[in-house]
Amino acid sequence: MDWIDLFPTSILNEEIKDSKLSLYKEFILKSKLHDFKRDGYYTEEQDILDVPLFSSLKEIIIQKSLFYLNEIGHGIKNVSIINSWGNNIKKDQHIPMHDHCNSYLSGCFYITGGSSIEFHNPLLEKYLFQLDWFNYADNPRAYKNFHLNPFPGLLLIWPSWLNHKVTTSTEDVDRISLAFNVMPKGLIGRKTGQINL
Ligand SMILES: [Fe+2]
Repeated sequence: MDWIDLFPTSILNEEIKDSKLSLYKEFILKSKLHDFKRDGYYTEEQDILDVPLFSSLKEIIIQKSLFYLNEIGHGIKNVSIINSWGNNIKKDQHIPMHDHCNSYLSGCFYITGGSSIEFHNPLLEKYLFQLDWFNYADNPRAYKNFHLNPFPGLLLIWPSWLNHKVTTSTEDVDRISLAFNVMPKGLIGRKTGQINL
């Protein structure tokens, strides 16, 4: 007996060697931060990748996004980063489950390590039954959710519709990351449904 596992939800994950991590951290810690109470802090600056300090990282994210889209077979020739911001999660804080609306791809670049990011299996809601779902650690077919432990320099890119959360930080340190949203750029689609982004 064998299985055919079709249509995976793909998350690009790659370690980026970047010598400016400490400068990124300093920049975010000095930024004006919006206090989201238990849900941590994010920068008022919502286009942080447009700051010259982050220009090389921005280019890497654009190239990796194009690589991601090519890999999953989407005919997109160009993309733009529509917003980007810094997050700081402190002890006992978390970010609740969410997706990123008004966006195509989303991602995160980790400036420090910290508590895990948890991705939610999008198939659960498709079965329309409230059932016990066993989270077999050795069987990706049965995952209810998937945890990934970030480390400095880790870049993740995923489809914006994929629900995810940041689990509660248990350490008395700053968990600092840079999040971003990506959209296609240029003419998309055929006549009567064409848009120019
Ligand atoms: Fe998010």
